Amino acid sequence: MSKTRESSALAAQIMRRSDELGAVSEERGCLTRTFHSPAMQRANKLVASWMGGAGMDVRVDAAFNLIGRVPSVRRGAKCVLIGSHLDTVRNAGKYDGPLGVLLGIAVAERLRGTALPFHLEVVGFSDEEGVRYQTTYLGSRGMCGLLRAADLARVEEKGIAKARRPVREMLAYLEAHIEQGPVLEVSNRPVGVVTAIAGQTRIRASLTGCAGHAGTTPMHLRQDALAGAAEIVLAAEKMGVLATVGQLEVDRGASNVIPGLVRFTLDVRDVKDAKRRAACAKLQRLAVAVARKRKLKLRWETVQETATASMDPALTKLLLKAAGSRVPRMPSGAGHDAAVFSACCPSAMLFVRCKGGVSHHPGESVKESDVAVAVDVLVRAVLELAKRHG
Ligand code: GLV
Ligand code: MN
Ligand code: MN
Repeated sequence: MSKTRESSALAAQIMRRSDELGAVSEERGCLTRTFHSPAMQRANKLVASWMGGAGMDVRVDAAFNLIGRVPSVRRGAKCVLIGSHLDTVRNAGKYDGPLGVLLGIAVAERLRGTALPFHLEVVGFSDEEGVRYQTTYLGSRGMCGLLRAADLARVEEKGIAKARRPVREMLAYLEAHIEQGPVLEVSNRPVGVVTAIAGQTRIRASLTGCAGHAGTTPMHLRQDALAGAAEIVLAAEKMGVLATVGQLEVDRGASNVIPGLVRFTLDVRDVKDAKRRAACAKLQRLAVAVARKRKLKLRWETVQETATASMDPALTKLLLKAAGSRVPRMPSGAGHDAAVFSACCPSAMLFVRCKGGVSHHPGESVKESDVAVAVDVLVRAVLELAKRHG
């Protein structure tokens, strides 16, 4: 089979596998897979069978990352990793994360029998979305030895730090992912190359007021926690950065009870770290003022901060060459495991066009022909790396 025909067949297989994996969920009627859930374990098992079928040695590490390895014949060889994540948001689409893992397996299949001067590893990370603990990248940070005591204090799975591997064994990290935005579609290109991944801050907050009777408490005597939270939500919207309150819960809410306790999350992003930090500080000051004015008690906890991560210039150049001319370069507003790896080894990312830029939504969609292009680009990139390190 010609290489392009082979990539087309592999792309068709990726589409089928995406459908199959997209049905592995912890919720009925929609796709949700969170860190270390039974659904994640089932997903790992399914993907492990595909890795095994591609001739890889498969294991799950202490952070529940699934790792398929094609060992190099060379002694003392380092490792090239192709990874992305297998966890999802709630009510997710089926390509955010899994597509990159399935593309990695396709690369291993295409290169089966090719002697490489490095081990080739395909990794399905266990937690990129951070849904379960609101702290992201538990899998990749576990592998890179970047978990902090505060992360371990927050999780039940205390052993995840044992996934740490020596950074010196990592030669390069490549990740493919759906774009999750409209740039490629607008420019009519199947793939693009990522320049940097925007930093993000995740905050967990609560406001405590006083629950009371909705029919008898005069408006001016209330300590309504939700009304206070609403002021903060609307202020976040005007902060001039990407700011999202994605979870907001009224504790024991009822239609005839004044909200006494509200918990909410805040996700703040910008490619400029200083701008993101300034927005977070301003929002916190505003929240303090809202709480004082309304006689509420504020709790404000920064659960995670990730700085903007630049992709490695040389590896990005290699990926651009593998992708051919006229390939758009763009920053990523979404977080990716590549942001973690960029602190440890040269890292680069390929984006695959997705329909309407839709993501974190069941409507995520990619074209099989674009997936075939991505297989070809990644294979060319790995072969070029082999030539340079041969
Ligand atoms: C992951 O998708 C994130 O950017 O939140
Ligand atoms: Mn995501
Ligand atoms: Mn993702």
